[in-house]
Amino acid sequence: MPNNEFGDFQTPLNLARAVVATLPPRDYRKVLEPTCGTGAFLQAAAELGVPQRIGVEIQPAHAELAAAHGEVRQQCVFGLDLGADLPWAAEGELLVLGNPPWVTMADLTRFGSANVPVKSNVRNRPGMAARTGESNFDVAEYIWQKLLIELRGHRPTIAMLCKTQVARNLLGFCAEHGIPLAGATLRLIDSHRWFGANVDAGLLTVHIGQTVGEYTCALYESLEAATPSRHFGLVGGKLVADVAAYTRTAEADGSAPLEWRQGVKHDATAVMELPADTQARIEEEHLYPLLKSSDLFHGNTTTARRRLVLPQRRLGQDTTELAGTAPELWAYLQEHAAALDGRRSAIYRARPRFSVFGIGDYTFAPYKVAVSGMYKKAEFRLLAPIDGRPVTLDDTCYFLSSADLAEAAVLTALLRGPTTATLLSALVFWDAKRPITKKLLQRIDLARLLATADHRGLAESAAKLTVGLPEQITPARARRAIRSLTARWDALS
Ligand SMILES: C[S@@+](CC[C@H](N)C(=O)[O-])C[C@H]1O[C@@H](n2cnc3c(N)ncnc32)[C@H](O)[C@@H]1O
Repeated sequence: MPNNEFGDFQTPLNLARAVVATLPPRDYRKVLEPTCGTGAFLQAAAELGVPQRIGVEIQPAHAELAAAHGEVRQQCVFGLDLGADLPWAAEGELLVLGNPPWVTMADLTRFGSANVPVKSNVRNRPGMAARTGESNFDVAEYIWQKLLIELRGHRPTIAMLCKTQVARNLLGFCAEHGIPLAGATLRLIDSHRWFGANVDAGLLTVHIGQTVGEYTCALYESLEAATPSRHFGLVGGKLVADVAAYTRTAEADGSAPLEWRQGVKHDATAVMELPADTQARIEEEHLYPLLKSSDLFHGNTTTARRRLVLPQRRLGQDTTELAGTAPELWAYLQEHAAALDGRRSAIYRARPRFSVFGIGDYTFAPYKVAVSGMYKKAEFRLLAPIDGRPVTLDDTCYFLSSADLAEAAVLTALLRGPTTATLLSALVFWDAKRPITKKLLQRIDLARLLATADHRGLAESAAKLTVGLPEQITPARARRAIRSLTARWDALS
């Protein structure tokens, strides 16, 4: 979370110098620092020998200090046309450096701040900052957009620190607006070390050229790294995390013939999730073994440490009937009514009392292939009933369900296979808060993966996955499941 409405973290001079050291060697004649604070980047640019240096800074005390390193305009950057209003004396290469405020629209609302990008500035620029209404839209992203649009004619090099999410959004923005990128790099920084901030961030450097080319960006693991670890960017209009991996697996990027589901959402952990050894006075048929993200990730899937209280079997089911059908559960829910009725999310309004979400026949299917959305690696797990009861998951997990163990085992083996791993490495930005989403999983074309897999090897992997479960399958049974899935999916296409 930022420290104030101005996102006022001053960049240490050493970091500004390290940033300048990464710049492509060009004869920079002018430098602009759009929100210059006390002017660390202006100073680093002076040390580099850039003759003309202009800074803009809203806070007078900062502007005064920065003036030691360049011409500083004490004003709000939103009100300036950065292409037309700045008094550049010299022709020559323009460099933009800086660290615009990492403040989201939601932060500004919380601070009751007026430091909000002005809509009138963007009136004649359709698409620009169209997302200012979104609460996670970042002021830094707006400033980047403003620079890209207003300075494109100057063909500058822009090198500024920003969140990695902002860097990704900006590639899409450049493509949308036909801004001719002649090169882009993102060098990761340790934002905790430099700013005490817990956010994935880096130095995004773009050079605007003359002709529209590719919208890809070379990712370096640090400011100093000599070679990129991968390239991310737009391929066929879609943002991918690893362009090379995507090229190898693009045919499996499609649409799954089965629906991925999310685990149960209830927003009342203390009431609905009980340690497995608790002697709850609740009818057994309303208690289910529950696995959480960490259980899936670590592979603790044959015993459950918790049980989930489920008052419903389908979405919107009337719960008042529980008074007659499950009096102990009803008494339990009454006892905890204050917590359940007080759930804040609007989804619970206009729903039967004590409702849960993410519930349907799929919840009660005996076999599942599940993955957590929260980790930096996708570990797909085959789940079978625990103590004879179907396993439930929380809403940080996603799953496919099946009535047939062999089918679920084959699906798990496919998802644990090398092609899926490569496809995921191509598609997933692991630094996102929830890297794996339902939308992403739905893109894995299981039919295509099955069609191109080695069926003998797949059947053997599927059979092995059932070792340790209450029931096992043979490779021959897995092969039958493969044939039946193939026939079913062929019929769909
Ligand atoms: C993250 S700090 C970085 C300061 C400086 N660029 C550096 O790297 O040391 C962001 C700066 O932007 C300034 N700022 C915030 N909103 C601004 C605005 N609307 N116009 C100009 N400056 C602004 C803040 O006062 C703060 O000094």
